[in-house]
Amino acid sequence: MTMRNLQVLLASRPSGFPTEADFRIVESPVAQPADGQVLVRNHWLSLDPYMRMRMNAAKSYAKRAELGEVMIGGTVGEVIASRSPQFRAGEFVTGSLGWQLYALSDGAALRKVDPAVAPLSHYLGVLGMPGVTAWMGLLDMARPEAGETVVVSAAAGAVGSVVGQLARMHGCRAVGIAGGAVKCAHVVQELGFHACVDYKAGRLREDLERAAPDGVDVDFENVGGEVLDTVLALTNPFARVTICGLVSQYNATAAYPVRNLGAVLVNRIRMQGFIVSDRLEVWPEALRQLAGWHAEGKLRYFESVAHGLENAPRAFIGMLRGENLGKQVVRLSEY
Ligand SMILES: NC(=O)c1ccc[n+]([C@@H]2O[C@H](COP(=O)([O-])OP(=O)(O)OC[C@H]3O[C@@H](n4cnc5c(N)ncnc54)[C@H](OP(=O)(O)O)[C@@H]3O)[C@@H](O)[C@H]2O)c1
Repeated sequence: MTMRNLQVLLASRPSGFPTEADFRIVESPVAQPADGQVLVRNHWLSLDPYMRMRMNAAKSYAKRAELGEVMIGGTVGEVIASRSPQFRAGEFVTGSLGWQLYALSDGAALRKVDPAVAPLSHYLGVLGMPGVTAWMGLLDMARPEAGETVVVSAAAGAVGSVVGQLARMHGCRAVGIAGGAVKCAHVVQELGFHACVDYKAGRLREDLERAAPDGVDVDFENVGGEVLDTVLALTNPFARVTICGLVSQYNATAAYPVRNLGAVLVNRIRMQGFIVSDRLEVWPEALRQLAGWHAEGKLRYFESVAHGLENAPRAFIGMLRGENLGKQVVRLSEY
């Protein structure tokens, strides 16, 4: 019997928030691997904010998704047929095989993972790209010192949740910013941040001043817009601002007018953006440390799980609206 693949394609380029009509779900036969290739059955799909930018026509740091193409995305799955000397059927791999149940790969960008060490989905979160993003942006770039105050936005999400826990482990005051009282309670009670500010409560500046009474030494910025602008106003001299993401702007149709850029000059701030895939050489050490802390129970990890590939578009839009708590993943099989 021919195996059938299910794929989610980019059907149209959204203006503002995407809708489910921007995606098309199609069925096709599963192709067999050619010489040097493997066939992977994807068990889990990662949903990430960067995918929204790939849906745009505008030039960005990475290649845009073309209309009619399979949506780009990180996956974990199992090699079910191999014509590559590097992989055997039955091995588990993570890579970027897209929003689909089956994919062919030449194996070059696949990393073997072990389901006996951690649940497979964790390789899309704390033991994968988001975890490395937190590690790189905080420990390698901002380099906070014990006693400093670290603020991180989207604190209840995949990257932010790791950032705050790493900051606390390094002796810093960890202050999160998240949307809603439930998320803020989670950030403090489950993740162990010292404080969390609900940016939707309408008192961002006052609440942040109270949560960071000694000012802000490091801002790990995931959100941009008014959140970044407000944090800038509360920075200390020689603060480091790591621009990881600007998720509040990904669906915006007008640019946010930054008011507090003067703080960068007055406080001699070092502000730097980064893309985690730029420095693949630091990934092994980052993953080694993250896996150690995770295994020791020092790094807690939470997920929001959607079920079935056909529900990926809805879960993706929900994640962009803040409906996820922790890392948003899609379960594609019973594994
Ligand atoms: N530079 C890199 O290499 C790199 C790598 C990975 C991720 N990132 C960036 O890191 C950030 C977090 O990514 P993630 O994967 O961890 O996603 P996430 O935080 O798990 O999910 C996205 C979150 O963004 C928040 N959000 C959405 N719209 C917002 C708005 N208008 N204002 C404030 N918050 C808003 C929501 O949380 P609330 O409910 O709290 O609003 C939502 O849950 C994103 O900006 C992403 O692009 C960058």
